[in-house]
Amino acid sequence: MERPTVNLRRYVSLRQLEVFEAIARLGSFRRAAQTLHVTQPTVSVQIRKLSEAVGLPLFEQVGKRVYLTDAGRSLYESCREMFDTLERFEMDVANMKGLTRGRLRLAVVTTAKYFAPRLLGGFCERYTGVDVALKVTNRERVLERLQANEDDLYIFGQPPAGVDVEAVPFLRNPLVALAPPGHPLADRGSVPLEEFGEYPFLAREPGSGTRLAVERLCDEYGVTLKVRMELGSNEAIKQSVAAGMGVSVLSEHTLSRGGEEVAVLDVEGFPIERHWYLVYPVGKQLSVAARTFMDYLLAEGGRVAETGVSAIPRSPQGGWPVGTAEDREPVAGANPTVRPERRR
Ligand code: PGA
Repeated sequence: MERPTVNLRRYVSLRQLEVFEAIARLGSFRRAAQTLHVTQPTVSVQIRKLSEAVGLPLFEQVGKRVYLTDAGRSLYESCREMFDTLERFEMDVANMKGLTRGRLRLAVVTTAKYFAPRLLGGFCERYTGVDVALKVTNRERVLERLQANEDDLYIFGQPPAGVDVEAVPFLRNPLVALAPPGHPLADRGSVPLEEFGEYPFLAREPGSGTRLAVERLCDEYGVTLKVRMELGSNEAIKQSVAAGMGVSVLSEHTLSRGGEEVAVLDVEGFPIERHWYLVYPVGKQLSVAARTFMDYLLAEGGRVAETGVSAIPRSPQGGWPVGTAEDREPVAGANPTVRPERRR
């Protein structure tokens, strides 16, 4: 018996495929509608028409969650291939025209919010035709976005392990030990890490890059911190330290220059010398806008970030240093945790 064929080119629009791809990628009709700036009923109508054209359901709903059917999975793969091809074509065209117009999607970890907007501001001033989208979120979420290939470039304080990425350092990121002014350690020199560890510690949330770096240092010195509280924001930590609730470790970028309400301590192992990295998956075809932003960052990043910490110098050959194995996070499962000892 002859099977009915599906003539999608005749009945399906690119817009419907775009809506479908967004739902499949984000796992939700609501999030797809938000991302595409349309209403949820519009999304539902597009999917109904698309399913009718395909002749099979594309999603199934179990409870509140939406799952792809076999037909949906197959269509999703085709969509990704199609959109990748289209994106490459757009890049070719942009290349031919030079960077007069374009789009840059950047996702950065929480702490990078202290300088990323300034970098983008300078870039947008120079390249006025480029539309920029900046996503600031938790390190774990940025990692998910990287794995789902949702953005052009990513900024991490530590290149992710277990994912094949190019990581280009562009700015220093020293982590400093902090206490309230007038703290017994505030005017001391060369405080042993063990002594610092005796004070109640205010930790960043699990999944934070800052937290990972502190865990690594403590593990190296065999020191266990007394975590008093976990806070998901650098600002909240800084204010809590200033209020005398404990000591902590934060990126120097989070401190405003002059008039700071917290004291930077001289503790063994500090500052933890780290860098900010521009990251993208190996083999990703960067758009002209992304390449231009990368060049801009490497040339101007240190100056524009205006943090008092310096950009990484270029080699005499003009090349940029790349991330080393030491900069990478330890493999999952081998991470020491900041062990809460005596919670108060
Ligand atoms: P975080 O990352 O904001 O997630 O702590 C910053 C970093 O890795 O330095």
